[in-house]
Amino acid sequence: MSEQAPIHGNYHGYYLKRPPSLSEPRLQALPRGLLADAVVLDIGCNEGWITCEIAQNWNARKVVGVDIDDTLVQNAWKRRRTLWSLQEPLRVGDGELEYADEEKLRLRKKKGKRKRTPSPPRIHPTKNYFPASCEHEFGPLPIPPYQVLAALGSSSVDVGDADYDEDEGGKPKTSTSEATRVFPYNVLFRTADWTKADIVEDAQGYGVVFALSLTKWIHLNNGDAGLRTFFEKVHRVLKRGGTLVLEPQPWESYAKARRMSEALKQSYQSLVLRPSDFSGILREIGFGEPRRVVGQGPEEEANTKAGSNVGFDRPIDLYVKL
Ligand SMILES: C[S@@+](CC[C@H](N)C(=O)[O-])C[C@H]1O[C@@H](n2cnc3c(N)ncnc32)[C@H](O)[C@@H]1O
Repeated sequence: MSEQAPIHGNYHGYYLKRPPSLSEPRLQALPRGLLADAVVLDIGCNEGWITCEIAQNWNARKVVGVDIDDTLVQNAWKRRRTLWSLQEPLRVGDGELEYADEEKLRLRKKKGKRKRTPSPPRIHPTKNYFPASCEHEFGPLPIPPYQVLAALGSSSVDVGDADYDEDEGGKPKTSTSEATRVFPYNVLFRTADWTKADIVEDAQGYGVVFALSLTKWIHLNNGDAGLRTFFEKVHRVLKRGGTLVLEPQPWESYAKARRMSEALKQSYQSLVLRPSDFSGILREIGFGEPRRVVGQGPEEEANTKAGSNVGFDRPIDLYVKL
């Protein structure tokens, strides 16, 4: 898929024009507290920059990114590793996190050698603690198994399904039920066409679902009926009182996107719904009236505007499941 036209909006290098340390302005626009302790789904996560930022900076309990393009998902796992490599090492008790192996931990537990309970790891280690050149020169730091952290750490952080196998599509390596809030253990990625396939996390439900710069692609590829089905699925996976964070692309931007393929061109002709209809559909499905906040949109769309190379203000609507 990655060699072909990005008919799903599956742009590669989407975030690369941004300074790597810049916070995502669309997240800054959200109400304080929306993401704290939330279980979050980021649909169309692309290379995982926003997904990781939610996990690292916004105190989310667990963040799942899903994208249709597996190459992007692999890059999202790499982004997770890069941010881990740049951030201040997690501290447990008096020292830095030990990279102990699992065998030692097992023995330590068996012999009952844990004499004291060390203080919990710091939830907010400093971002960009190491210069980016460290990763370039030495490669990314390995992420130690979460069991290591939990065994050395405190009871306030549970070992969750928090230790993921990147090569196995994010299959948990550990099997206990609770996830943890500590980055990078609180974020994982899945490859799926989410309009057609469920991912395992859907069954638990989410407190917040993100659909940023996504509806145009779902609409063009799946038609009016497919978009409605997508909204219904979002409603289904959200817990009651949960929030859909929706950043629909404007109708004018569809015209350029349809040129990517004959199928999109034909689909475009058949569309009756417009982004201005979305709030009515969502109301019918069971969401409340939207609350509008304004974030700065991505450059992809901004570039279509009079040669501008910076983002632009684009409304983000928050819909609560009633
Ligand atoms: C324009 S990008 C937006 C990325 C990100 N949400 C943001 O706003 O920064 C749209 C993303 O949605 C993904 N996507 C499109 N259709 C999808 C689907 N049916 N299921 C999962 N991901 C999808 C694309 O691969 C692409 O990465």
